[in-house]
Amino acid sequence: TDGVLVDRYDRVARDLRVSLTDKCNLRCTYCMPAEGLPWLAGPELLTDEEIVRLVRVAVERLGVTEVRFTGGEPLIRPGLLGIVTAVAALDPRPRISLTTNGIGLDRLAPALRTAGLDRVNVSLDTLDPARFTQLTRRPRLDAVLAGLAGAAAAGLDPVKINSVLMRGVNEDEAPALLRFALDHGYQLRIIEQMPLDAQHGWDRSTMVTAEEILASLRTQFDLGPDPTERGAAPAETWLVDGGPARVGVIASVTRPFCGDCDRTRLTADGQIRACLFATEESDLRAALRGGATDDEVAQRWRTAMWGKRAGHGIDDPTFLQPTRPMSAIGG
Ligand code: GTP
Ligand code: 5AD
Ligand code: SF4
Repeated sequence: TDGVLVDRYDRVARDLRVSLTDKCNLRCTYCMPAEGLPWLAGPELLTDEEIVRLVRVAVERLGVTEVRFTGGEPLIRPGLLGIVTAVAALDPRPRISLTTNGIGLDRLAPALRTAGLDRVNVSLDTLDPARFTQLTRRPRLDAVLAGLAGAAAAGLDPVKINSVLMRGVNEDEAPALLRFALDHGYQLRIIEQMPLDAQHGWDRSTMVTAEEILASLRTQFDLGPDPTERGAAPAETWLVDGGPARVGVIASVTRPFCGDCDRTRLTADGQIRACLFATEESDLRAALRGGATDDEVAQRWRTAMWGKRAGHGIDDPTFLQPTRPMSAIGG
């Protein structure tokens, strides 16, 4: 490594999140409108080779040790298996994970495991079929449940569930989701909704807070302190009924963890985002296609990260939601 991705607040980015597509086969109401969004055009997308090259630069020259593929929905990218295989062959080999809605994962999990995928996080906000269909606008709950089971059966470990709670929609489901996760050996994390929806409909007053999530879980479970080191993880975790099972809460809004952030992000169209809430991006695609050397790409990436903001700034009166929606950033 010639020089890591460090910012002016001394945070080092070891965790790279790569969005493989901005498209998705669900339409979660808190993410996308029913008709979808203006998708990136084919030539704007990085090719599989360009993605692998950028990940290689990050791993070989910039000290990245964790690579997570996101979307949109990463399982709908045709080249996914090849990309995972190529990234798993890098030296040093990064840990490889995926954040997915789970549709198709039952079929794909064995091949992904063989290709080198280590672990998976699956989004699932409700266990009620009617609610699922209302929330995602697609009747696919069974496909997601099959995806979770397939991931565990293929040896992906851990299998985590991400649940976003919304008032008046699924705010009562935290205990049921935890019961389900415990029964199946999945790790549940419940997430505070952030202002990243394409429709700009986020409102602090409707956000279900970590405090409310914990109170709801405590109606049915004993939550004790988790002695394991949190590090830069977004989730704060608790031991459930004495352990060893855990539950996590990702409280980006009411308990921000920006001071420990270790993330750098690459969008499907080749832009580096230093922060989820960045208002500026750095165009690595233009650099690649303009003939930049690996060295030049690495230097551009370092410069982009040096400008990383201190925190998301959601509480600032001047806060502006990024123009790129969650589905085109990758969470
Ligand atoms: P693990 O490494 O398994 O802990 O994954 P993760 O929680 O970092 O990633 P995942 O894709 O499962 O995201 C879960 C939730 O955390 C989503 O709501 C993400 O938007 C959010 N998240 C991930 N990284 C960040 C971050 O750097 N900042 C903030 N504020 N939220 C993040
Ligand atoms: N706030 C928090 N999490 C969100 N996700 C999608 N939109 C939001 C939001 N506005 C979650 C998804 C998925 C992960 C990538 O981010 O449910 O689990
Ligand atoms: Fe890091 Fe930005 Fe997320 Fe804060 S909001 S944890 S700085 S990516």
